Amino acid sequence: MICKRIKVHVRPGHLDQYLVAQRIWNEHTARCPGYVGEFVGQSPNEPDVVDVHLYWQSRADLERFMAVDHDRIAALSKAEDHYERIEVTILNAILPGAVSADRDESTAARAGRLQQVSEAFRESAALRVAVRAGVFDLLDQSSKTPADLAKQCGGEVNAWRHLLRALRVLELVESDENDLWRNTANATQFLVTRSPMCQRDMILHNTQPSYITRAFGFAEHIGLAADDAGSTDHALFLSAMSATAAAGQADILMSAIDLVGVSTLIDVGGATGPYSIALCRANPQLNAVILDQPATIPLADKAIAEAGLSNRIRIVEYDYRSSPFPERGDAILFSNVLRGETADEIQRILARARTALNEGGKLIVTDLFVETGSPTASAWRAAMFGIHLPPGTNYTMDEMCEVIEKAGFNVTRKITLSPCVVMNGLIEATPIKTWAST
Ligand SMILES: C[S@@+](CC[C@H](N)C(=O)[O-])C[C@H]1O[C@@H](n2cnc3c(N)ncnc32)[C@H](O)[C@@H]1O
Repeated sequence: MICKRIKVHVRPGHLDQYLVAQRIWNEHTARCPGYVGEFVGQSPNEPDVVDVHLYWQSRADLERFMAVDHDRIAALSKAEDHYERIEVTILNAILPGAVSADRDESTAARAGRLQQVSEAFRESAALRVAVRAGVFDLLDQSSKTPADLAKQCGGEVNAWRHLLRALRVLELVESDENDLWRNTANATQFLVTRSPMCQRDMILHNTQPSYITRAFGFAEHIGLAADDAGSTDHALFLSAMSATAAAGQADILMSAIDLVGVSTLIDVGGATGPYSIALCRANPQLNAVILDQPATIPLADKAIAEAGLSNRIRIVEYDYRSSPFPERGDAILFSNVLRGETADEIQRILARARTALNEGGKLIVTDLFVETGSPTASAWRAAMFGIHLPPGTNYTMDEMCEVIEKAGFNVTRKITLSPCVVMNGLIEATPIKTWAST
């Protein structure tokens, strides 16, 4: 094994952008032959320095990577825009097995990519809706905001924003700091109807709903019964979320979350408790209370009992949209919950959470946040989620921080989780003031 050590001197104020670029490096490098794993870390004494340790099976693998893949990934990530200089050292192993790669990280990235494939139909849907709405012609002559589009064409401003964000990860539109959106060169060439190369008709042809139904109907040709178009099954969904945690997401959360001084965790919409279980196992001082819907209770009871944690984790029936919290805690976790809610609802939910925190307590929000940098697997999935749940929020981390602050908190920590299965960011916040009740 060989290790390439890169000491990155990040430009002051560019750490967040650099970490987005580093995630792109990580995701693409992990697919190259001979890649073993990597570690990205930071010393608290050097806030503008990021240390990257990249492990390869052999020097030949590293050389092949440098010759074949390095420049392509560098151009994609645009990391150079965010650092002043880098120092590179190649380390030879002098004790066999002295370094073991962090396989959980690449497990998470691989599970995330597989989940992304299962959501690929959203890409077709976004493209079809955009073409039907004539978005590319609308943006052909002048840039527009989502509000301009809603005014001109009707519909909800937020839905237009969701559509534009989905089209951005397809590299068909781009926006500026004033929220003005325009076509990319690709869209101008292939999606504007005045172009002789316009692919509009082929897109409408290929994405016909009857074609999509036909694709799923293929199953009958290999002897399966007709697919069920009915509503999703709650137990299946909770089992899917639990499998996401098991595929590396729980480990990543545990390495990012800070539970020092926390003895009671309230896990809102905690499902069958995959994160409460992992966090209680890792933190012997911790007890957790899961708040969830009635249909979740028996499933969660079973999972908690199987984990042998019924003495430390309770599940309480609660509708987080409607009433004050039934329990108080030192930390309140919203994991993969808030993006399904509207912006106003989030503010109300968080305002109630604030009153349920013990003195010195904190709010923790982890979710799949929209990313505005270069496309990554998680950026694709976050943007496409807007197509899945139009009234739900499709927030960037900064936008979520704004809502958290409006609900009466100070944001104290904001980090990206990388790689990830589905949660790409974590925000911690403390109440501006803790009231006994409001
Ligand atoms: C996307 S899952 C997230 C589960 C888990 N926190 C995770 O990160 O894997 C959303 C959870 O919120 C619960 N939920 C949905 N609406 C709710 C409501 N109004 N009140 C309480 N829980 C709710 C669902 O039952 C589900 O367990």
